[in-house]
Amino acid sequence: MAGKNALVTGSSGLIGSECVTFLDARGWRVHGVDNNMRREFFGEHGDTTWNLERLRRETSRFEHHDLDVRDREGVDRLFAETRPGLVVHCAAQPSHDLAASRPFDDFEVNAVGTLNLLEATRQHAAETPFVFLSTNKVYGDAPNELPLVELPTRWDYADPADHEGIDETMRIDHSMHSLFGASKVAADVLVQEYGRYFGLPTVCLRGGCLTGAHHSGAELHGFLAYLARATAERSTYRIFGYKGKQVRDNIHSFDVCTAMIAFAERPSAGAVYNLGGGRENSVSVLEAIARFEELLGTKLSTEYVEEARRGDHICYISDLRRFRTDYPDWELSVSLDQIFDELAAAASERYEVTHA
Ligand SMILES: NC(=O)c1ccc[n+]([C@@H]2O[C@H](COP(=O)([O-])OP(=O)(O)OC[C@H]3O[C@@H](n4cnc5c(N)ncnc54)[C@H](O)[C@@H]3O)[C@@H](O)[C@H]2O)c1
Repeated sequence: MAGKNALVTGSSGLIGSECVTFLDARGWRVHGVDNNMRREFFGEHGDTTWNLERLRRETSRFEHHDLDVRDREGVDRLFAETRPGLVVHCAAQPSHDLAASRPFDDFEVNAVGTLNLLEATRQHAAETPFVFLSTNKVYGDAPNELPLVELPTRWDYADPADHEGIDETMRIDHSMHSLFGASKVAADVLVQEYGRYFGLPTVCLRGGCLTGAHHSGAELHGFLAYLARATAERSTYRIFGYKGKQVRDNIHSFDVCTAMIAFAERPSAGAVYNLGGGRENSVSVLEAIARFEELLGTKLSTEYVEEARRGDHICYISDLRRFRTDYPDWELSVSLDQIFDELAAAASERYEVTHA
């Protein structure tokens, strides 16, 4: 597949930028689409300009397009001009909590923006694999119905049958999603439908916590990157409910790229996979704080907020067995220890570490 054009949306964000680097290194010409809306969503902490500049420095065939995925004509024009051989759609309003205060922006970016891209793909590149970064929030808070057991530093599944985590048969309705989860459900179902109804090779990768050093971590999005920053700067980190024992499974952005390319090389139509770090890369908030404190040699100041975030997962571990069965050569290559080391190193490089 090398030597073709790829179109990556959200290319200045965490996953999009990793895809740009990944594909560029493998000989692709990459068209990146990003309008730095993350800054508008999250303020200074969300500004992705530094990451765009890094991509411009470090890649050889990358072309940036300051385009809004809501701009239907602009998207159509870009597809007509570039006729990409791979589409990776990562642009989003990605925050669960922010969506409530910006319902129209959230839906228009997440749902309508996805529809614009799908239709442009159908019109100009109908054979092209379309990879959509979906989310585990499509399940709403239904995963919280699984029986849990409280351990000293984390929640875990009580039933051994749930040991591997949440699989793709978890229902997506009759639960609370947040408006973000709802707009992502709309996009996820549209991506499936362009596969099932029109036969396009589309996939929804329902992410757990996707992470890496190139996240512009903000309180409302980018759990580990923001926690690393808060620990380095000793700013107060707020823990929302569940005693700080809520569990997330973390996958490095590089491993998201290898999963994406595995699908692109052997696509099917309307596929759905859960994609996270699995049990081996799972960590609770309390455990993550302890690790960063140790790595950065400082003490984080925390504030406990009794009320959990609405619709938040208590224990979420992605069951990776469906993806592993269909793509047996794919594996997680970045361990949880390596993720922590990388984020701590990036935080001490980018922010001044304040010691206790
Ligand atoms: N990071 C996670 O933990 C996580 C978990 C599950 C799913 N996801 C999904 O993965 C995808 C990528 O997430 P990320 O962490 O890289 O997010 P990110 O915010 O780092 O990147 C998204 C990028 O999209 C850009 N963008 C936003 N609105 C846009 C618009 N209207 N037009 C063009 N560009 C726009 C932003 O400026 C940003 O650079 C998203 O769809 C997100 O919902 C992320």
